[in-house]
Amino acid sequence: MKWNFIWFLAILFSCSTSNNTAVIQPSNAGPIPSQQLKVSERVQSLMAKMTLEEKIGQLNLLTPGGAVTGAVVSKDVGAKIRAGKAGGIFGIRGAEKVRQVQEIAVNESRLGIPLLVGLDVIHGHQTIFPIPLGLSCTWDMKLIEQTARLAAREATADGLMWTFSPVIDIARDPRWGRIAESPGEDPYLGSRIAEAMVRGYQGDDFADPATMIACVKHFANYGAVEGGRDYATTDMSRVRMHNEYLPPYKSAVDAGVATVMTSFNVVDYVPASGNAYLFRTVLRDRWGFDGFVVTDYASNNEMIEHGMGDLQDVSARGLKAGIDMDMVGEGFLTTLQSSLEAGDITLERIEEACARILTAKEKLGLFDDPYRYFDEERAKVEMMTPANRMFARQVAAKSYVLLKNENNILPLNKSAKIALIGPLADSRNNMLGTWSVSGDKSKAITVIEGIEAAMGGRGSIFHAKGANITDDPELARKVNVFGKLIDIDQRDPQAMIDEALEVASNADVIVAVIGEAAEMSGESSSMAEISIQPSQRKLLEAIKKTGKPIVMVLFNGRPMTLTWEDENMDAILDVWFGGTEAGNAVADVLFGDVNPGGKLTTSFPVHVGQIPVYHSMLNTGRPYSGEAFSKFKSNYLDIPNEPLYPFGYGLSYTTFEYGEIELSDTIMTENTNIKVTVTVTNTGSRRGAEVVQMYLRDMVGSISRPIKELKGFEKITLAPGENRRVSFTIDSDLLSFYNSSLEYVAEPGMFQVMVGPNSRDVDLKEFELR
Ligand code: BGC
Repeated sequence: MKWNFIWFLAILFSCSTSNNTAVIQPSNAGPIPSQQLKVSERVQSLMAKMTLEEKIGQLNLLTPGGAVTGAVVSKDVGAKIRAGKAGGIFGIRGAEKVRQVQEIAVNESRLGIPLLVGLDVIHGHQTIFPIPLGLSCTWDMKLIEQTARLAAREATADGLMWTFSPVIDIARDPRWGRIAESPGEDPYLGSRIAEAMVRGYQGDDFADPATMIACVKHFANYGAVEGGRDYATTDMSRVRMHNEYLPPYKSAVDAGVATVMTSFNVVDYVPASGNAYLFRTVLRDRWGFDGFVVTDYASNNEMIEHGMGDLQDVSARGLKAGIDMDMVGEGFLTTLQSSLEAGDITLERIEEACARILTAKEKLGLFDDPYRYFDEERAKVEMMTPANRMFARQVAAKSYVLLKNENNILPLNKSAKIALIGPLADSRNNMLGTWSVSGDKSKAITVIEGIEAAMGGRGSIFHAKGANITDDPELARKVNVFGKLIDIDQRDPQAMIDEALEVASNADVIVAVIGEAAEMSGESSSMAEISIQPSQRKLLEAIKKTGKPIVMVLFNGRPMTLTWEDENMDAILDVWFGGTEAGNAVADVLFGDVNPGGKLTTSFPVHVGQIPVYHSMLNTGRPYSGEAFSKFKSNYLDIPNEPLYPFGYGLSYTTFEYGEIELSDTIMTENTNIKVTVTVTNTGSRRGAEVVQMYLRDMVGSISRPIKELKGFEKITLAPGENRRVSFTIDSDLLSFYNSSLEYVAEPGMFQVMVGPNSRDVDLKEFELR
């Protein structure tokens, strides 16, 4: 086949004329206009040598296993690479191992085109950081960027150059297990996290071998699956999609993310992996994305189950929709040629996809040195260093959220007599959390180890398991697919509780370490019941009767319903899954060596029936306000409207006082700004961090607008007695939203600005946009 130079020239020169590019209809099978895709002469001349089969081969992503999450695994991996039938591979790591695979591609395939080597490096590579939901609770973008940078440093020393991260699916349903991987419920915060992660992985120069290409996922709206059931339908208005779900993906694109992954769900009744609106109209035409798009695991093939036709139909559909690479399913590999012959797809589109993938390889420097990521010396010195672990410990402590601290029972004294009770107190396998594929569980620090080390021989620790994570063997079996995370004790549950009571009788304070096993959240780990498992609740009820103060340390990958615990525990510290250094970080916070400063990024419902509950809801025509039930208002007969813990909430061992909101003006125009300032004072006796949050409400609009939306935040650290003036600038961009015609507009009228320590406890002022 002859390379279509004319088309490439058109793309090359499209920068100046891009605004004039024709609108591409979803049915159009041709190339996708892009404002930025520039194809180098090197890639062009390489493509001039390639056969059609080799071009299609580049669109295929293989896995020999390792991270299997779908129905298929690639077969004959070596033979396919030799035959030029692979653009990349994932599911392997290790500098030496990956080098061997790359050698096959470089030395044994006809054109020697190197492979891209990817993996899910989600919250750290070998040194594991808190699960992304926990990480988001730091509200510290510099820190989040550094975690991605360090993950890239380790991953690239391990033979990888492409991470399938960040996950920035907005999630408002705690039943969905992948909420653990998400940045939480808010698009503004999610956008800042997306930018930070992309900057962290990719750096600003791919010449640095410690950088790698990122892949923002899962485009789009994956976090909104119905019923919280993984892979289920999502359906929402375009207005909601553009205002609430798409912004973080767009921020990742604006930050220069090199690749985008599709999602498993349908969007507007069309599976994302074949959805031209998402990939052609939004991603390419509107956002000018210039990287390449990969499907999620076999999601091209899964369009068959969605009822979109046979493998050939769905593969053609995916390619036409703008998908460049097919993960594992091999539909592109096996059917595109026939579709081309049938005239269903164009050569230009195949070539465009191929050019995008080759351009990514060029960007990474693989054509100059295909082995630049396989430096065994780096692998020896850069993985899980003491400095990396120390950093992970600091990050973990910053992700922990103090939900309750009655009578300042925390921090504890290192000389105390502590009863350490609960199934997660000594549970090394559960520290890393979901999607830590390269993490070594055996190197994680448990809570008991952390506490013992911190106490250093002072005081005493009395330990008992007290309960199983669950007594339900069926649930344990489903959760234990990647190893024994739930270990059901041979003893009778009551005997375990009795032992815990015995142990507690020696102590001044009980620390109950309870919650979920690491794989009770994550992919395909949806739960209908999100309260503490009955086995553990019984334990809590029994120890409550001792009358001793109880500190509950909660491991969880999702918001849980903690109404009973909130009423009955003296303190609650939410520690998510903190990663390699989880146990040390728990001790740091429990003993006050670190003052907790994490704040929730998802609302914690009072009851599962409240879902979805989030801070940026619309008002109703019959809004409810107040404590008591009100007939013919929007409320429940049996539960309150408000969540148990609101978005942005989290306590500290010190206290902060907020001064009055000061506005630089009460009237602004399209071209002027308003500066919002508030003075925050540390009124307690410890140094501490506070996340100052600003919310806005558009009082009158052409569409109904949320009762509040996060539009600014700053994390500050203050010494006792110290104060700081914190300012936010409101410009018309911050007031803009997508209207019914999907135009991004700021509409004149009154606005409320709210500032406070969380989304509930805010003060407000008003201003007008003229
Ligand atoms: C997940 C993706 C992941 C892929 C490859 C899929 O099941 O949805 O997030 O990147 O597997 O491991």
